[in-house]
Amino acid sequence: MVKVAFQQTAPTFGAIEENVRRMVRRLDSSATEGVELVVLPELFSTGYQFRSKEEISRLAEPLQDSIAVRALCGVAKKKRMYIVFGMAEKDGRRLYNSSVLLGPGGVVGVYRKAHLFWDEFRLFDPGNTPFRVYRAGRLRVGMMICFDWVFPEVARVLALDGADIICQPANLVLPYCPSAMITRSIENRVFSVTANRVGTEERIKGKPLKFIGLSQIVSPDGRVLKRAGSIRPQLGVAEIDVRAARDKRITPRNHLFRDRRPSMYKRLVRE
Ligand code: ACM
Repeated sequence: MVKVAFQQTAPTFGAIEENVRRMVRRLDSSATEGVELVVLPELFSTGYQFRSKEEISRLAEPLQDSIAVRALCGVAKKKRMYIVFGMAEKDGRRLYNSSVLLGPGGVVGVYRKAHLFWDEFRLFDPGNTPFRVYRAGRLRVGMMICFDWVFPEVARVLALDGADIICQPANLVLPYCPSAMITRSIENRVFSVTANRVGTEERIKGKPLKFIGLSQIVSPDGRVLKRAGSIRPQLGVAEIDVRAARDKRITPRNHLFRDRRPSMYKRLVRE
């Protein structure tokens, strides 16, 4: 059995050092004892509602100089855990809404959000990293970010690449994702961890964003193993048996991957 977790948070916009310090304190506590993988929200160190590209450019960090990466690498090494978290990443002049996987040995992989949501189109560059699976100790980990949930291809591609567990840093404002991720888990027979935030940001007058919380851990048969509330920061921990995600049989006669009919799908799909 492997212990996995989400840490739901309520970041203060723009206060990177404070948000990271608070997170390190939470992850360093005895509550995470034995946890091998923890997922944190999207953009957990900066907050979400940027007013302009200039503002992101000021707060975004190159991976190698990132306050969050440096601090969380320290925790990962000390606690022998893997951490998936969202941050504003700067790469030259480009700005990405990224998810980072790091472990006791440092950064393992980065995924840059492919499907941008709403105002993100004028703020971030669209992601250019492939959907792929990384080894994280005893787990094979795939990453998606928030709004990626609405594109079922993402979870399917990660499952086909061998993911046991899909980690989803999120800043959810629409109500649908927690239910949809149960379906994503069932239809791909994978575990999923959604780490969302709570609180409200109204940095743009007349455009308040209320984040729904409800972070959760779901099993390949669609059971919600842990779900947070919608008001407070919260740690959620569940023990999972990774074998459940590696057995793709649905009935004695049905296999999730072998029963697919890709040649039939191609004819219907128009790019
Ligand atoms: C979202 O993609 N942050 C809703």
